[in-house]
Amino acid sequence: MSDAEIGLIGLGTMGSNLALNIAEHGYKIAVFNRTASRTDEFMKDAGPLAKKIVPCYSMEELAKAIKPPRPVILMVVAGPVVDEQIGLLRQVLAANDIIIDAGNADFNDTRRRFKELEGSGLTFIGMGVSGGEEGARHGPSIMVGGAESSWKRVKKVLTAISAKYEGEPCAAWLGTDGAGHFVKTIHNGIEYADMEMIAEIYGVMRDGLGMKPKEIGKVFDKWNGGRLNSYLIEISGKVLAAVDPKTKKPVVDIILDRAGQKGTGKWSAIEAQKLGVPATGIEAAVAARVISSMKAEREAAAEVYGKPKKAKVDDPAALLKDLELALFAGKIAAYAQGFAVMDAASATFGWELPLPTISKIWRAGCIIRSQFLGQIADAFSAGKVKNLMMAPDFVKMMKQSNPALRRVVAFSVENGLPVPALSAALAYFDGYRQARGTANMIQGQRDFFGAHGFERIDAKGAFHGPWTAV
Ligand code: 6PG
Repeated sequence: MSDAEIGLIGLGTMGSNLALNIAEHGYKIAVFNRTASRTDEFMKDAGPLAKKIVPCYSMEELAKAIKPPRPVILMVVAGPVVDEQIGLLRQVLAANDIIIDAGNADFNDTRRRFKELEGSGLTFIGMGVSGGEEGARHGPSIMVGGAESSWKRVKKVLTAISAKYEGEPCAAWLGTDGAGHFVKTIHNGIEYADMEMIAEIYGVMRDGLGMKPKEIGKVFDKWNGGRLNSYLIEISGKVLAAVDPKTKKPVVDIILDRAGQKGTGKWSAIEAQKLGVPATGIEAAVAARVISSMKAEREAAAEVYGKPKKAKVDDPAALLKDLELALFAGKIAAYAQGFAVMDAASATFGWELPLPTISKIWRAGCIIRSQFLGQIADAFSAGKVKNLMMAPDFVKMMKQSNPALRRVVAFSVENGLPVPALSAALAYFDGYRQARGTANMIQGQRDFFGAHGFERIDAKGAFHGPWTAV
């Protein structure tokens, strides 16, 4: 019987939780997974929600189970698998049906898929979903890209299952074709920067102040009650408090210092470079993960260069206070970069990305959710600014917090503690607010070796040397 509201392909962690979320909100959903046993297992675990779920064992069955025009969510591994599934869906769907790719796709692929589906009668939505397993189950942040008319047809169900911030749904249509996946990519890029800066601050506490995980965790717990209030700070406190049942040691002490990455951070940095927008906080965070993966090389280098000498801290309480503000200043700079990348992409791809809406739908459900995003939403809603650091409230916050960032970076550099994202954030701020920079020197060098020309401060036009000292 064709009475399911929506379909879903891919019952992995994210797919199954999203399906349960949809069912729980009263929408009948048809599901299909390549491995039939996974579908059976899913149905068994669904409990009373199974009543709202139609298990399907072929694409044809899935298509038949949904009420036309049929929206089908794809929650499969990003890349060729998505193309393969689209190919199979084309054989069973009909005009006006909607394929929704809800994975972490490269927005360039999303744009290509839009083109490929043009003229087929089918429509396509590229949808970013953030919030991990818990978010998918109980309310993610949903970033939609595609034709606005397709969004209108799925708005009700997607809005219902999304996270709510003070009653406002964290789901929105952000623009055509790849807009949703682009915004999700930058969300993840910012997530990388946020996580790296938190890890760097943890490093200063561990190696600069000699603090134990439990103590550091308590500091994060305390910060979570203030300006840094956010999901990532909250879970950092919990991660630091956890104890390994086997060794009775803090879990964080038995985890190998090597971080994985699936690619969205790298994509953010690549797209920022392509757009000519500095996103040094994100770049530093991606590079830090790469360095983390070079464990054997790092160990060899540690043998050769030895450990930095133990830091001398005259006033640990003052340094701790600085760390909180430094993290806040670093966050402002990193978010300013992320939003600047989205603004540039918006102009380049003709999306008209609504920055106030993006900050609003990130206030709940997603991994970077925080009180801070509410302040960003207010700043962007108050009027367009070239850079978040120029919004009046952020000017105040940055003036108050950048001296602490400077002291923390200086302390870390002095003591051999790597803080690549925090120092990138500081350098970005210092470069951005410097009216007379040093690129005059670059231009001099460029003209000297390549006759690239330069502009003068006292006349219009292009000039060349001569490079003779008279
Ligand atoms: C989210 C997360 C999610 C996922 C990332 C992790 O918004 O829910 O960002 O997308 O956890 O893929 O990315 P890495 O494996 O690259 O750290």
